[in-house]
Amino acid sequence: MVIVYKSNTGFTKEYAEMLANAEKMKHYELSQAQKELGRETEVLFMGPLMAGHIQGIDQAVKSFNVKAACGVGMTPPGSPSLSSLSKANYVPNAPIFYLQGGYAPKKVGWLKRRMVNMATKSMREALQAKGSRRTPEEQANLDMLLKGGSFVAYRNLDVIRDWLKGQG
Ligand SMILES: Cc1cc2nc3c(=O)[nH]c(=O)nc-3n(C[C@H](O)[C@H](O)[C@H](O)COP(=O)(O)O)c2cc1C
Repeated sequence: MVIVYKSNTGFTKEYAEMLANAEKMKHYELSQAQKELGRETEVLFMGPLMAGHIQGIDQAVKSFNVKAACGVGMTPPGSPSLSSLSKANYVPNAPIFYLQGGYAPKKVGWLKRRMVNMATKSMREALQAKGSRRTPEEQANLDMLLKGGSFVAYRNLDVIRDWLKGQG
C-alpha cells in the first residue's frame, strides 16, 4: 500500500510525510501519483476537507484501488461525525478516518477565508461565550479559528497505524 495525498496549505502533506516515515511507506502527491502509479495500486488517500468533502477523493477513487481515505480538517476530532464523513465521501468498502490539521488563513484566498469565517461563526461564538471557563484545548481551538494554527501531531496517527497493521 502507498500513501497518496492532496494538500492546499500543507497540513495534510505533513501528516502524509509523518505516516510515510513511521510506516516506511511511499508517499505521492495526487497528480504525481496519477502519472506514476497504475490503476491496481492499493492506496491510502489523504486530503483536506472542504465543506465536508475530502478534496481529491473522487480522482483517487477513479485512478487507484483506494483501501482507506482520511480527511484532514480544522475542527477537533470527533466533531465531524465519521458516518457523515463517509456519506459525503463515498469510497466502496473502505474505512474513512479524520485527522485535525489546522488552519492557515494567510495561505487561503479572501473568498475561501470568508467561507471559513461564516462556517465557523457559531463555533467561535460558543467558545468566546465560555470566557474564562474555556479549557486549554478550547482556547487553542479558538486561537486557531481567529489567527490560524496547527494541531498536527504524531499521536493522532495511531488509529490509522492500527488499521494498517491489520492489513498485513
Ligand atoms: C473553503 C474551506 C472550507 C473548509 N471546510 C472545512 C470543513 O468542512 N471541515 C473541516 O474540518 N475543515 C474545513 N476547512 C479547513 C481545512 O480542511 C483545514 O485547514 C485543513 O487542515 C487544510 O489541509 P491542507 O493544509 O492539507 O490543505 C476548510 C477550509 C477552507 C479554506
